[in-house]
Amino acid sequence: MEMVDFVVDTLPHFSRLALVAQSDGGSFWLPPPESVSAWAVDNVFYYIMYLSYFFFALITALLVLFVVRYRRRPGVEAVKTATHSMTLEAVWSLIPLGLVIIMFYVGFVGYVELRSPPDRAYEISVLGRKWSWQFTYPDGTMATDLHVPVGEPVRLMMTSEDVIHSLSIPAFRVKMDLVPGRYTRTWFQAKQPGKYDLYCTEYCGTGHSDMLASVVVHERADFDEWLKQAGDILGNSATPVEAGEKLFRLNGCGSCHSTDGTPRIGPTLKGIFGEEHKFLDGSSLTVDENYVRQSIMEPGAKVREGYKNQMPTYKGRISDPEITALIQYLKSLNE
Ligand code: CUA
Repeated sequence: MEMVDFVVDTLPHFSRLALVAQSDGGSFWLPPPESVSAWAVDNVFYYIMYLSYFFFALITALLVLFVVRYRRRPGVEAVKTATHSMTLEAVWSLIPLGLVIIMFYVGFVGYVELRSPPDRAYEISVLGRKWSWQFTYPDGTMATDLHVPVGEPVRLMMTSEDVIHSLSIPAFRVKMDLVPGRYTRTWFQAKQPGKYDLYCTEYCGTGHSDMLASVVVHERADFDEWLKQAGDILGNSATPVEAGEKLFRLNGCGSCHSTDGTPRIGPTLKGIFGEEHKFLDGSSLTVDENYVRQSIMEPGAKVREGYKNQMPTYKGRISDPEITALIQYLKSLNE
């Protein structure tokens, strides 16, 4: 952090550069910066951008000038140019060298800032999967949108259940891959309450462009209230069917099981109650509550004909009252 503070003090020029480009807080290129580390991205971005503008203009202008001035004309002899100029070569080597060293420095300082979360950060687990986000809070509460308190550093500990996804929050200048079998981290600190967009920015299959969520930044008291509400799904739903529908969504069941009759990786769950199901081992059974419960706890026990067992167990991840709500929801799909 000392290094970062040092740079914030010693590089006012770059910060001012960023400010010029952000008269309303944002620019044509970037949304208003809403996190305390946004400068880390903005400085290097605007530095490279203005440098590119400058050299684009300079080179194009000289090109046009030389084309006009030194074009071939009748009666004008070609002038023999100098073959070597130490001064000229030193100038066109050292100035760009200085400019790219500054580029590295500004970029490195930003990288250090983005990669070092403060020690006392609020940690949220993020699970990416085809094609939804699951955010899990320290108390076990799950959500499909990312809710965070304002003005506090938030660390995201992320992994993926299937393929590589990438979490991106443009307003916070945050972007980090989620890799199966590995944890990656990122962090941010929101500056003011509001609602921001969260995208998946790694192509991850058919539903990639639907892999969207919101970041909701609350005042601390509102956040605590939200956490309390969100944590008690059964207590805060009007009916068990409604609670079951929420649980279905939060646990990502819909990634593999449709509720409209179309088969996916797993069979559809529409209208299954009372149906006769045939299994891989040759046995069969009429779908009832016990069979649904068993399929959630031990997915491998009875695998439908025509499908492979790809479902993880939910043993220990879901309570009995929650299973009951899920069953009520599945039953409601029969109507
Ligand atoms: Cu997940 Cu793209």
